[in-house]
Amino acid sequence: MTYVITSPCIDVKDGACVDVCPVDCIYTGGRMLYIQPDECIDCGVCLSVCPVAAIFEDHALPPDETQFAAINAEFFGPAVTGWGAPGGAAPRFTTTLDHPLVVRR
Ligand code: F3S
Ligand code: F3S
Repeated sequence: MTYVITSPCIDVKDGACVDVCPVDCIYTGGRMLYIQPDECIDCGVCLSVCPVAAIFEDHALPPDETQFAAINAEFFGPAVTGWGAPGGAAPRFTTTLDHPLVVRR
């Protein structure tokens, strides 16, 4: 299980979730932020602070947001950043890149 950031974050990027995540597994892209699914400890703290309700548990995603589970995971793969699981959102793991499905929205 993991938590997932979905479309309401696009072009909003409030950032409140980053401040509360205890393991720094929320990473900044160009138009939205992404949760590293292997680093997320499923604490749920981020969900409660997002002002646009963009964060969901993966098994509780709204039907029209289900593709964001893969979008969050693939952001860390070779098709986008290639970061894998870098172990925390340090400044050098910030980018202007986005998942292709986010770029096109
Ligand atoms: Fe981080 Fe917990 Fe959310 S580990 S991404 S604050 S569910
Ligand atoms: Fe985005 Fe909400 Fe975090 S708008 S940056 S998911 S607080």
